[in-house]
Amino acid sequence: MSSTPTEESIVTLKAEALDQLANAADEASVESWRVEYMGRRGRLTGILRNLGSLDPDQRRAIGAAANRLKGELESALDERAAEIKRSGSSQPKDAIDVTLPGRRTRRGGLHPSTQIIREMLDAFNEMGFQTVEGNEVELERYNFDMLNIPADHPARDMQDTIWIDRERASEDGGVLLRTQTSGMQPRIMEKQDPPVRIVSPGKCFRFEATDATHEWQFHQVEGLAVDEGLSFADLKGTLYEFARRIFGADRKVRFRCDFFPFVEPGVDMSIDWNGRWVEILGAGMVHPRVLRNVGYDPEKYTGFAFGVGPERVAMLKYGIEDIRHFFGNDLRFLTQF
Ligand code: PHE
Repeated sequence: MSSTPTEESIVTLKAEALDQLANAADEASVESWRVEYMGRRGRLTGILRNLGSLDPDQRRAIGAAANRLKGELESALDERAAEIKRSGSSQPKDAIDVTLPGRRTRRGGLHPSTQIIREMLDAFNEMGFQTVEGNEVELERYNFDMLNIPADHPARDMQDTIWIDRERASEDGGVLLRTQTSGMQPRIMEKQDPPVRIVSPGKCFRFEATDATHEWQFHQVEGLAVDEGLSFADLKGTLYEFARRIFGADRKVRFRCDFFPFVEPGVDMSIDWNGRWVEILGAGMVHPRVLRNVGYDPEKYTGFAFGVGPERVAMLKYGIEDIRHFFGNDLRFLTQF
């Protein structure tokens, strides 16, 4: 800018300046335009400052042209600034830029256990079972005693229990994290008369060493039907239909005798997994003593009960090789569902 000003340089400067100003789209670019041309070290300011190096004739002519340009640029600046204000393209710094391309929001999802439980409940609901929810902290009385598992019964040893208050002196016994959802059977029956047809999902806990098929926390879906004239055929029909709905009609199913103190007879059901049998549930006809415990007449009413492990069902259905994935909280696993 320290070169000697000429008429020509003023004409060029004017063209450039007006062109650039027209392209300034917001307040910030207008301001840097102002600094570039009319600031203390600006290009026009430089011309005006160097007028002194010209001889008097030139100084008058060029000085007049430069001052005229100064006035023109000033009013062009005001006009452009007003235009930008009117069009609203000058935005506060934190405004949302509606012109940015859309970005995908991250979607959460239901835990695989929740998904399979809902699917199982749907199947049972359609067969006439109503869903009820129970509590994870349970009384010894419902988790064991009412289910024909007295304090000295060896079946208690199979359920290594997490006690919250073992020594509690009460006719309900101690307080524990439930080891099975079966406590819902007496809880429901105590409250209502037959017919009963319920399913009850929820978490269970056992103080247990873990491996590929055992977790210390897992879910169960309990089922209970009590009415006049229910037989073992109803139990098998219900569970076959359940397996058909979840695994399809071609999957092989096996029943075997099994023992649970609160049913008689008792069975377990396994599903074929590439030539291997994997147990997914225990079941049986409700033991007469359990019916009597809740005030039902076992001569009049019979019923069947079952307890399904949804994580086992999901493992079979989706080919999950280790039950510990369910509660390992690894997103690489969880987001596959
Ligand atoms: N509660 C039993 C278990 O945890 C399963 C079961 C439920 C068996 C209902 C029979 C009837 O192993």
